Amino acid sequence: MSAREGSRMGLPESSRFRFTSDLDICRVLNGMWQVSGTHGQIDPQAAVQGMFPFVDAGFTTWDLADHYGPAEEFIGEFRGRLVASMGEQALPQVQAFTKWVPQPGPMPRGVVEANIDRSLRRMDVETLDLLQFHWWDYRDTRYLDALGHLVALKDEGKIRYVALTNFDTQHLEHIADQGIEVVSNQVQYSLIDRRPEVRMGPYCADKGIHLLAYGALGGGLISEKYLGQPQPGRAELATASLMKYLQMVDAWGGWELFQELLAELKAIADKHGVSISNVAVRYILDRPAVAGVILGVRLGVSEHRADNARVFDFALDQEDTDRIESVATRSRDLYDLIGDCGDEYRR
Ligand SMILES: NC(=O)c1ccc[n+]([C@@H]2O[C@H](COP(=O)([O-])OP(=O)(O)OC[C@H]3O[C@@H](n4cnc5c(N)ncnc54)[C@H](OP(=O)(O)O)[C@@H]3O)[C@@H](O)[C@H]2O)c1
Repeated sequence: MSAREGSRMGLPESSRFRFTSDLDICRVLNGMWQVSGTHGQIDPQAAVQGMFPFVDAGFTTWDLADHYGPAEEFIGEFRGRLVASMGEQALPQVQAFTKWVPQPGPMPRGVVEANIDRSLRRMDVETLDLLQFHWWDYRDTRYLDALGHLVALKDEGKIRYVALTNFDTQHLEHIADQGIEVVSNQVQYSLIDRRPEVRMGPYCADKGIHLLAYGALGGGLISEKYLGQPQPGRAELATASLMKYLQMVDAWGGWELFQELLAELKAIADKHGVSISNVAVRYILDRPAVAGVILGVRLGVSEHRADNARVFDFALDQEDTDRIESVATRSRDLYDLIGDCGDEYRR
């Protein structure tokens, strides 16, 4: 029987995480930046239909944003098709975490509510499961106004949980100290970018705030496809994601050292009978405070679902982490170079 007929199949129980008292998520989330148009052409019909096998397999949690092209509409359309095929009772199987990424400016209640209402409309929901808030400029402290209104909208039932994305530890701490409850912070976290280990991870672990990690595969660079390959030129990079993370590889230590990392990951992967990507995701899933890893999905274009399911089938041991460290200790310190989580967005 498929999940469309009534139950979730495929992934083991260890794939689930109790995110809040009433939200149970898959620890590998489906990232929808990849449908925004900057990662190759997407056929909307095929893309929405392509969401079913993810949910069928147990990948029930989606990460999206107000500015990821049609992503919010895809959720609305998908929910409609889900109801048509399985009935209303199937809807709670799916979790959809969106973001609000406003331009800095005045943040009166009307502005905040209008943007939340737009997401509600597009996603065709009465309540947003999670609203992850981004802010571009800490010098403009009106982010606190916005968060105050988001909390009020939560109390009124339009948002189930308020969260952040790309906030650094200092500002997350400031927000928490104001008594504003945020359940998670979404940050870049990968074998290349381990900045969250410095302050963010320990702080979140202490306060019970979850981390949702993106960039764990470097847009696909951390995979067999790039093992033993020369550094790709910009013209060869088909997605905005690859361009973003190739810059991170350069900052981290360059292509030659990256090849050494891939070679170590390949040895670890072979030992466990899994893929390089599986090792890279498993490592991040095991970090303190990490609730889930978001993997970009190019719906209807490429397909890695079966491979990504194997991340729940093995565990890394001390020998594996020693091998990873043997390369990592020779890389640059991105915390020194760039700063804390999200600082790359604020230069
Ligand atoms: N909050 C933020 O500021 C922010 C920023 C970036 C991303 N995100 C979120 O994170 C999500 C992830 O995006 P990302 O840019 O970080 O990309 P990513 O997840 O690091 O990379 C996604 C790409 O990796 C490749 N891939 C996936 N599974 C694979 C496997 N098992 N083996 C080999 N290759 C595999 C695919 O490439 P191909 O399709 O080419 O095969 C896929 O398109 C986004 O969709 C978004 O939801 C958030």
